[in-house]
Amino acid sequence: MQTNVGLLGYGTVGAGVAKIISLEDSLLSQKIGWSLKLSKAVVRDPEKHRAFTPPPGLLTTNPDEVVGNPDIPVVVEVMGGIEPARSFVLKALRSGQHVVTANKALLATHGREIFETALQNKKEIFFEAAVAGAIPVIRTLKEGLAANRIQSVFGILNGTTNYILTSMAQEGTSFADALGEAQKLGYAEADPAADVEGTDAAHKLVLLTALAYGVLPGLGDIRVEGITGLEALDFKFARALGYVIKLLAVSNLNPGDGRLEFLLAPALLPRDHLLAGVSGVMNAVMVRGHACGDIFLSGAGAGMLPTASAVVGDIIEIARIAHSDSPPTKPSLGWQNLKDEAVKPAGDIRSSYYLRFSVHDRPGVLSALSGVLAKHDISIAQVIQKGVNPETGSVFLVILTHATPEKELTAALVEARGLDTLTAEPKVIRVEDFLAV
Ligand code: NAP
Ligand code: HSE
Repeated sequence: MQTNVGLLGYGTVGAGVAKIISLEDSLLSQKIGWSLKLSKAVVRDPEKHRAFTPPPGLLTTNPDEVVGNPDIPVVVEVMGGIEPARSFVLKALRSGQHVVTANKALLATHGREIFETALQNKKEIFFEAAVAGAIPVIRTLKEGLAANRIQSVFGILNGTTNYILTSMAQEGTSFADALGEAQKLGYAEADPAADVEGTDAAHKLVLLTALAYGVLPGLGDIRVEGITGLEALDFKFARALGYVIKLLAVSNLNPGDGRLEFLLAPALLPRDHLLAGVSGVMNAVMVRGHACGDIFLSGAGAGMLPTASAVVGDIIEIARIAHSDSPPTKPSLGWQNLKDEAVKPAGDIRSSYYLRFSVHDRPGVLSALSGVLAKHDISIAQVIQKGVNPETGSVFLVILTHATPEKELTAALVEARGLDTLTAEPKVIRVEDFLAV
């Protein structure tokens, strides 16, 4: 017996899937009870060099050889993007094929339509690789932690940006060089803007939120800020203050008002926080549940084999389902019905802040700035003044605040910009020590 598998895409992830299925045939058959067979793989250019050489005849440019092919019960979408991936996935489900996808952009934007189509057609759609690469966080939330009221789920969800931030902080690599390296290693999206501008991590946060709370937020509910505005200077100040900078994704159910709070932005984390030690392409997810307490999962967040590990895990489970007589019983997101939950506007979310001002070095500057902050009820936790620009005579004044609603900080900054002491636009980064575990 064997299960035929069709691939849509044979790039970084597709080649990894082919490598595991081809080289680990004996291991996989011992686990499943029969073999997986790659039948066809759809690509744009069959002549291109591949990281794992496909057997002759595997590659095709004709999607009909996979989508809707009655000999292929399992379709694996690893081509990325919205179209034609969306149409192929929908057609496969309607044709009676189960689907595995690693495409978080697709699920975060068209998830409702795709999950409903799967349900209506009694087919599975599995997507373990769509969030945090090799880390089995989808199954953990859907099954292992199903007994919990989840209070928060947060972490580092993008391998490319974590690789860049680690290289910049630890080796002083330039942003452009670190990004180029991440692309060479197969971590980045086809358009790396999705990584560095935070959209890819936001797609993953949408899916984690759905699994954790049964609420599928829109991307518009999440204010997204990437890492392109970070400067080498901020890594140095962060280090001097005992922090590291990470692109943090947070989905939190506020116990006070019951509203969902999202954060997708660079943040200073205390050096001894568990997430601070998550370096390079590694990702991590922390889940806080009422019964389980704090759970910490970490592993490679991108790359050929780590991602293929998650995809093949899904294929194995689907192969078992495809060969059983009973139809799927578990909803794709682990909830029978999705709820509507209030989302807190970003301006109301409280956070501490790192503020780096460039100011004239003269008496009264600190008191003027602290006066503006005080007027908006923003309390100062730490101040450092370091470094002089010999050309302008400006100095850097770094202030760490205590927690304040974002709208108060925004109003204070409007006022601060009106002071004649500022010589450049202030730099603002959140400080997340409230999540400490
Ligand atoms: P990739 O290296 O760019 O590979 C994409 C593959 O899809 C290529 O083989 C390409 O064909 C094929 N393809 C794209 N558009 C096509 C079209 N219109 N018609 C036919 N074939 C098409 O991408 P990847 O890094 O493997 O990522 C694939 C998916 O996995 C994406 O959704 C991504 O977000 C997700 N993912 C990636 C990683 C990672 O570490 N890379 C991790 C987790 C999830 P050609 O080769 O002929 O161009
Ligand atoms: N580009 C993504 C990342 C791939 O770097 O995390 C994994 O989803």
